[in-house]
Amino acid sequence: MKKLVILISLFAFIGLSNLRADEGMWIPSLIQELNEKEMQDLGMMLTAEDIYSVNNSSLKDAIVKIPGCTGEIVSDQGLILTNHHCGYGRIQAHSTLENDYLTDGFWAMKKSEELPNPGMYARILISIEDVTDKIYNVLNDGMTEVERDKAIKAKIKELTKAATEGTHYDAFVRPFYYGNKYYLFVNETFKDVRLVGAPPSNIGKFGGDTDNWMWPRHTGDFSVFRIYANKDNKPAEYSEDNVPYKPKNHLKISLKGVDEGDFTMVFGYPGRTQEYLPSYGVEINTEVLNPIKIKLRAERLNIFKREVEKDKKVRIQYASKTAGVANGWKKWQGETRGIRRFDAIGKKRAFEKEFVAWANADETRKELYGDLIANYEKATNDIKPLQIAYTYMREAGYGIEIVRFASSFYPLIDADKPLAADKRQKTIKSLNGTVERFFKNYYQPIDEEVFEALLKRYNEDVPVEYLPAFFSELNGKYKGDYQKYADRIFKKSIFTSKEKIEKILSNPKANFKAFEKDPVMKMVASLKQLEKDKIKPYRGKLTTDIQKYQRTFMKAQMEMQPEIRWYPDANSTIRLTYGQVKAFEPMDAVSYKHYTTLEGILEKENPDIYDYVVEEKLKELYRNKDFGQYADKNGQIVVCFIAANHTSGGNSGSPILNKHGHLVGINFDRNWEGTMSDLSYDPNYCRNISVDARYVLFIIDKFAGAGHLVEEMTIIK
Ligand code: ARG
Ligand code: GLU
Repeated sequence: MKKLVILISLFAFIGLSNLRADEGMWIPSLIQELNEKEMQDLGMMLTAEDIYSVNNSSLKDAIVKIPGCTGEIVSDQGLILTNHHCGYGRIQAHSTLENDYLTDGFWAMKKSEELPNPGMYARILISIEDVTDKIYNVLNDGMTEVERDKAIKAKIKELTKAATEGTHYDAFVRPFYYGNKYYLFVNETFKDVRLVGAPPSNIGKFGGDTDNWMWPRHTGDFSVFRIYANKDNKPAEYSEDNVPYKPKNHLKISLKGVDEGDFTMVFGYPGRTQEYLPSYGVEINTEVLNPIKIKLRAERLNIFKREVEKDKKVRIQYASKTAGVANGWKKWQGETRGIRRFDAIGKKRAFEKEFVAWANADETRKELYGDLIANYEKATNDIKPLQIAYTYMREAGYGIEIVRFASSFYPLIDADKPLAADKRQKTIKSLNGTVERFFKNYYQPIDEEVFEALLKRYNEDVPVEYLPAFFSELNGKYKGDYQKYADRIFKKSIFTSKEKIEKILSNPKANFKAFEKDPVMKMVASLKQLEKDKIKPYRGKLTTDIQKYQRTFMKAQMEMQPEIRWYPDANSTIRLTYGQVKAFEPMDAVSYKHYTTLEGILEKENPDIYDYVVEEKLKELYRNKDFGQYADKNGQIVVCFIAANHTSGGNSGSPILNKHGHLVGINFDRNWEGTMSDLSYDPNYCRNISVDARYVLFIIDKFAGAGHLVEEMTIIK
């Protein structure tokens, strides 16, 4: 209980904060207390109540969580905007060689043409409640971490049940400040979300992976969806009878654009940041694990790149996979570079030294926190080999498509966790979908090459004790001949054959012995065994310890510097971040403007490179200056702009709003120099990148001829 008192008194101090304006991802329900005044000082014309209100309609009602990303409602008929790269998988799923929406774009000219997307959802926040006291009430200092976790889980179950009883809402509780605080989120989740429009990839993904994570940028990274509801305006599974959802609120779209220094805010769902990780945690990430992941992903990317050049069908099949693999590969390079460049580890070490001195200056503190940093360092060192083994298992073992595919069948044969009959039926049903999706995009020759390349790395880099057992066969019987091993496995496995798998799944009497005996499944089983014997027990224990140190460290830092307004790390819950439109200087002698224009697209044009092809129609609009109402005051089309808003992965598709709360752009990326911001944010170098709302509307209206969508929106001229 004492802990709680300290925490509460800490939060009482927060009003007196002095932290930089552009750092932090804030909880919408706390803005009034923590941020409102500063936001208004920066130029915002709204109140906290306009942003988040439980009783009245507010901006939050227009923000939706969609898988992996954020979206925003922009019409009274449930129309939503998000990024092209967020809709990418869905657009691809609807694409075939004949109807290649990925390459050519897609536009529903009337509602009946909008395309359903099984598995897609749009979740809208209803309310947020601080439940810290309720949770801490069931905890006591005598509990072990395991007991503590159990008690918290049980309490959370009770709280979410009570919060949703008798409603059609769903709810979850998440820890904040590493478990020093807990918040309950109640949501309404819509399940019928249809694809309305997407520009061609040479607009939506212009610049491809070359320009990804970079400024200056010219990507029209947006796509359009619509939420459907039943006739009572409530969430429902897809049905032809569903109707467009009537939202409580939708965002107005401004055609006024932004100038340097303008106030902006981003409202959305950042996934995960680790700003309070001690130096040792940062170090293992950027100096040990990132280089491994980068190396392993480069192997895959090189193979993908070579093969997709040869065949258009394969290019479609591997488009989304390549984007996913390349995105991490590039980000981690930028991240490690940024951490080194700004000596983030050195700075953290210096702070930790101060912290230890502060802790040791007082007897009570010494007892609580004196060994914290040393303990953390030790646990991090102990966990290192396990983290490495785990990373190889994930990126090399399961980096092979067929291995990952076979692993989804493992629950059917897992002797440790036999499935009850109903669960088994459910699993089989969902596997049928998995099979369908897998083979639509599977090209075996690529996977065979990946198989050989990744196993070679795995074999060479990892000490024998952390290698899965199948390597003894590879190194023994096959004398390390990867090709021979691959040939044999691929020839014998049934997982390369859609027909064979489907036949087994559809046989009600199947005992799945065929899966169990399969050579790919045997690889899966040996990866599982490795995880179970060598990784999980130790990694689990150490992770629990680290969690506890992290929680204690967070609390102690807040105690040490009560004048700081601490923001919680991102955890996939809704946040508001704010700052200003800002140019920057990435390096000596170079300075970047805050916006790019259509002219820049033509400068980058290269008909020989897929990612830099410019559509004839776009060139024609440019030549004729046929910009409609979408040009800026200089008569140009602005494509993208940057601002200092603290964002992260998951913020893709988030609205970037001006001082009136009007949409001026859609967030989609960060700059290369600032990708370290998930571990260490530096407002001088970190920028978020947005596509200008006027470019989005210009493409919808002038390029695609889908002006009826713009008519649905509320436009501020
Ligand atoms: N870097 C952005 C994000 O993290 C965009 C990724 C999609 N684009 C790409 N070329 N892979 O999601
Ligand atoms: N592109 C990222 C996403 O999909 C957002 C950019 C970032 O990581 O800042 O969420």
